[in-house]
Amino acid sequence: MISIINISKTYNGSEFPAVDNISLEVPKGEVFGLLGTNGAGKTTTFSMLCGMLKPDSGEIVIDKKNIRSDLNEIKKIIGVVPQDIALYPSLTATENLMFFGKMYGLGGKSLKTKIKDTLAVFGLAEHAHKKIINYSGGMKRRINLIAGILHNPKVLFLDEPAVGIDAHSRRDIMQHLKVLNQNNGTTIIYTSHYMEEAEKFCSQIAILSLGKIIAQGNPLDLIENYQCKNLEDVFFKISSNH
Ligand SMILES: Nc1ncnc2c1ncn2[C@@H]1O[C@H](COP(=O)(O)OP(=O)(O)OP(=O)(O)O)[C@@H](O)[C@H]1O
Ligand SMILES: [Mg+2]
Repeated sequence: MISIINISKTYNGSEFPAVDNISLEVPKGEVFGLLGTNGAGKTTTFSMLCGMLKPDSGEIVIDKKNIRSDLNEIKKIIGVVPQDIALYPSLTATENLMFFGKMYGLGGKSLKTKIKDTLAVFGLAEHAHKKIINYSGGMKRRINLIAGILHNPKVLFLDEPAVGIDAHSRRDIMQHLKVLNQNNGTTIIYTSHYMEEAEKFCSQIAILSLGKIIAQGNPLDLIENYQCKNLEDVFFKISSNH
């Protein structure tokens, strides 16, 4: 579903590349985790994958379309959930979601029904007409996520979707994503620095360090290969060698 071929990015004025010659293949229906510490290059990779940032070199192909030549086509089939909350605080949750739905070309009664149903699935039915400014952090995260999935994207990109919220809400959000993946076959690419969460949630992961992939594979295989007790231990073991 996604091919990343030797992509690199050095920001203007920076001496070192933020992303340094990364290649990855993500099959359809995969939940793929891009993991790494602060500054590893996760958001830079994420931004290039959803067309917000141009790589200096390399190719990105999503659903057989090249991001350089077919970005408009790609935008129709991807959903993007950014690291920073991108909602209008003075509008209600429903008004925000109507805005995002229309941006994706949805509308009318079907959009209204979709918003109502999705808010209910995410436990926010009672808060549908409350302004975002009065939402808690965890509730805002959920609306941010719903905004990215209203149009049933084939591929969903999430940058730290559950950062800064309590463990309970975090598990809830990840559970909803898992259901989306299983019921709709949505391919999910998500960045995180929570190794424990990624171990449970991802079918494949890549660990980034200083813009390079230092390990890649199925979390359980990696744990076994590196003779560790969990993914966090694998991460510490590998990063101490880099
Ligand atoms: N707009 C920018 N201009 C210059 N350098 C940047 C810019 N954005 C990121 N960088 C640098 O690129 C590197 C990778 O940053 P990036 O934001 O991709 O990391 P990250 O893995 O997402 O980190 P975090 O976990 O903190 O979100 C870092 O060294 C960062 O300082
Ligand atoms: Mg980031």
